[in-house]
Amino acid sequence: MSQKTLTVTDNASGKTVDFPIRSGTHGPDVVDIKSLYSQFGYFTYDPGFTSTASCRSDITFIDGDEGILLYRGYPIDQLAEKSSFLEVSYLLLYGELPTADQLSEFTSSITRHNMVNESLKNFFNGFHYDAHPMAMLTAVVGSLSAFYHESIDVNDPASREICAHRIIAKMPTISAAAFKHMIGEPFIYPQNTLSYTGNFLNMLFSRPNEDYEVNPIAEKALDQLLILHADHEQNASTSTVRLAGSTGTNPFAAIASGCAALWGPAHGGANEAVLNMLEEIGDVSNVPKFIDKAKDKEDPFRLMGFGHRVYKNYDPRATIIRKTCHEVLNELGMSNDPQLELAMRLEEIALQDEYFVERKLYPNVDFYSGIIYRALGIPTEFFTVLFALGRTPGWIAQWMEMSADPEQRIGRPRQIYTGAATRDYVSIDKR
Ligand code: CMC
Repeated sequence: MSQKTLTVTDNASGKTVDFPIRSGTHGPDVVDIKSLYSQFGYFTYDPGFTSTASCRSDITFIDGDEGILLYRGYPIDQLAEKSSFLEVSYLLLYGELPTADQLSEFTSSITRHNMVNESLKNFFNGFHYDAHPMAMLTAVVGSLSAFYHESIDVNDPASREICAHRIIAKMPTISAAAFKHMIGEPFIYPQNTLSYTGNFLNMLFSRPNEDYEVNPIAEKALDQLLILHADHEQNASTSTVRLAGSTGTNPFAAIASGCAALWGPAHGGANEAVLNMLEEIGDVSNVPKFIDKAKDKEDPFRLMGFGHRVYKNYDPRATIIRKTCHEVLNELGMSNDPQLELAMRLEEIALQDEYFVERKLYPNVDFYSGIIYRALGIPTEFFTVLFALGRTPGWIAQWMEMSADPEQRIGRPRQIYTGAATRDYVSIDKR
């Protein structure tokens, strides 16, 4: 069968070139335009990468029109219902679901690496008590590179694998330390008898002076939330990790750059922004006013937790999380939570509004996650840290894949230069 191609004709010169078309397992075919510049002397212009595949990847597939999300081929709803966050982490890293032995070995490796060097804890002392936890997380994750640098060979698969285990293992410890610093309580060491998520909750909520028992409802809900956030193909933070990683930088520095990209309210910061928005709206009676604000192009206000670059249908993660949200609030005896009621009313009104219908703006994963986090006793400004914790296996799996891909080159986009034309320097006395 002949190779599919796309023919491009330059109307200025009449030159015609056939560009090869590459197909993936699912999703639209891709025109391989690597040779466009050498053939025509043109770059492409695609701000926000709305039509550009920056890499090939075997990890995650999203069909935004159909609302489908697959990790290594497995539908997200099946994983959210049947799997665990560590099993999903294994799947993302290695491409297959683990056998019982493989999972047990992986779990013990992650558990073995969950401590951080004692001196890493000193970094937190440099932060004021009201430092945003994402600022602390970004800085402290980046500083892991100071502890693991000489020993890392990014060209060695075994070395990359150890990095992956280390970051997945240490992320809860660092995240919980940021939380404890924020609330002024002593850091809690990891507890290896607990599950990954149970240990994290223990590090967040236990205190040295009293007994603490992990609430199984909270443990299950949080584990599911971590699964839902574990990967999302080439989103802004993952692309940032890949771009930073493409230079051969220290992987912990690359993951820190992912944390920084995630923090923004258009990305992982949206869960925090949703709760702030619900607080601002205050009461169901104010919903129409805020819907109008969201539709007003002169007003910068957007309905946080609505809309997605890729999903032009219900975000499949939101469907799962919506259900979990109701279950968790019921089980915790908080089903009459006024913020849940407000969120549901907002969703109902927005979903009927022509503006949102026309633009296919549906609730995304962050619309409900914040309500669950709040019910678990987690303060709003900490929400994005939980997103980062969940996204870590995705970031590091994508970094590992990129590092092993012989087609991958340093990420280096082009531009349309629109500044001043060439001109001569003018000495200061003549300006
Ligand atoms: N409220 C009001 N209008 C919106 C919203 C919103 N939340 N989102 C998009 N629009 C409008 C936008 O004004 C534009 O209208 P028009 O065509 O008339 O100019 C149209 O919908 C398309 O929006 P866009 O900004 O071109 O879409 P995008 O793909 O560039 O942005 C987005 C996607 C997620 C950044 C955006 O929908 C948004 O800002 N949403 C709120 C923030 C949010 O919830 N982010 C979390 C994303 S999910 C978590 C994650 O995976 O990171």
